[in-house]
Amino acid sequence: MASSIAHFLVFSAIIVVHFSSTQAEVQGSFDDNFSKSCPETHFKTSEDGQIWYLSLDKKAGCGFMTKQKYRFGWFSMKLKLVGGDSAGVVTAYYMCTEDGAGPTRDELDFEFLGNRTGEPYLIQTNVYKNGTGNREMRHVLWFDPTEDFHTYSILWNTHQIVFFVDRVPIRVYKNANYTNNFFPNEKPMYLFSSIWNADDWATRGGLEKTNWKNQPFVSSYKDFNVDGCQWKDPYPSCVSTTTQNWWDQYDSWHLSSDQKLDYSWVQRNLVIYDYCQDTERFPKKPEECWLNPWE
Ligand SMILES: *[C@@H]1O[C@H](CO)[C@@H](O)[C@H](O)[C@H]1NC(C)=O
Ligand SMILES: *[C@@H]1O[C@H](CO)[C@@H](O)[C@H](O)[C@H]1NC(C)=O
Ligand SMILES: *[C@@H]1O[C@H](CO)[C@@H](O)[C@H](O)[C@H]1NC(C)=O
Ligand SMILES: *[C@@H]1O[C@H](CO)[C@@H](O)[C@H](O)[C@H]1NC(C)=O
Repeated sequence: MASSIAHFLVFSAIIVVHFSSTQAEVQGSFDDNFSKSCPETHFKTSEDGQIWYLSLDKKAGCGFMTKQKYRFGWFSMKLKLVGGDSAGVVTAYYMCTEDGAGPTRDELDFEFLGNRTGEPYLIQTNVYKNGTGNREMRHVLWFDPTEDFHTYSILWNTHQIVFFVDRVPIRVYKNANYTNNFFPNEKPMYLFSSIWNADDWATRGGLEKTNWKNQPFVSSYKDFNVDGCQWKDPYPSCVSTTTQNWWDQYDSWHLSSDQKLDYSWVQRNLVIYDYCQDTERFPKKPEECWLNPWE
């Protein structure tokens, strides 16, 4: 295991250098690209405007969303999560077709489930198509996500959706080569983030309650980074055959051989829950679970 860690640390460093030349980081002000929904008191930025702080207390949480919609691309952000006793607190970072839990929404989720001091955070991912989710996976991380900023990214094209943590693929969600009801690829999505109280389910299944003595709970964000296709209503854009973007090309349709090594390390060591393996909940294995993430 130690050598695997060494492997992907080295690998990640190389990849970071490789990608930094092609990425367009958003260095404007928050208001250029986002709108927020929270009381003024619950949203702060650093003096230079580049770090954003969302806070949760007993009265309110906080969230923001992009002004722009996107269809396919690479979506990335650095987050530093609530530290200390954060049981019950969930920070979400996700893409969704709608502002609200509409019954026909598509959604790609990262959710960070807080914990008691010293107990591990869990990262939960989920995929919704036309309002149907129930495709949870849960992972532990190989670092403490409250100590420093780490990068959480989504690669989305017509062939696959990959969830990355610091450039390590932790989840691969494949499309099929036939019309299906599980792969979101028709509708453009906004990117969202929010912090809220979820102590009815989040930590040890809801057993651990939020300790409000520790409020406010604060999550920090920086380096929002999109290399994707902006969707311009009312005309459908982002037609893949006419674009030459790396995230839409053959090499991005499947994991690279180095990514496969990292992914297999994650599969062996970090997966806590995989709905595809939950035969009690799904006596009939969901259709997408038969697709091969290695192809
Ligand atoms: C952010 O906003 C600016 C100004 O409206 C726009 O030009 C740019 O494309 C936006 N960036 C992203 C990643 O959507
Ligand atoms: C999406 O879901 C709605 C309601 O759940 C259903 O009526 C509709 O047929 C579905 N659309 C597709 C394209 O499957
Ligand atoms: C779809 O993919 C499967 C598995 O990779 C393959 O066996 C099959 O031939 C493919 N079908 C079409 C129509 O390309
Ligand atoms: C919180 O810590 C407990 C005890 O270590 C662990 O069982 C659980 O998976 C952790 N995370 C969550 C979200 O419950």
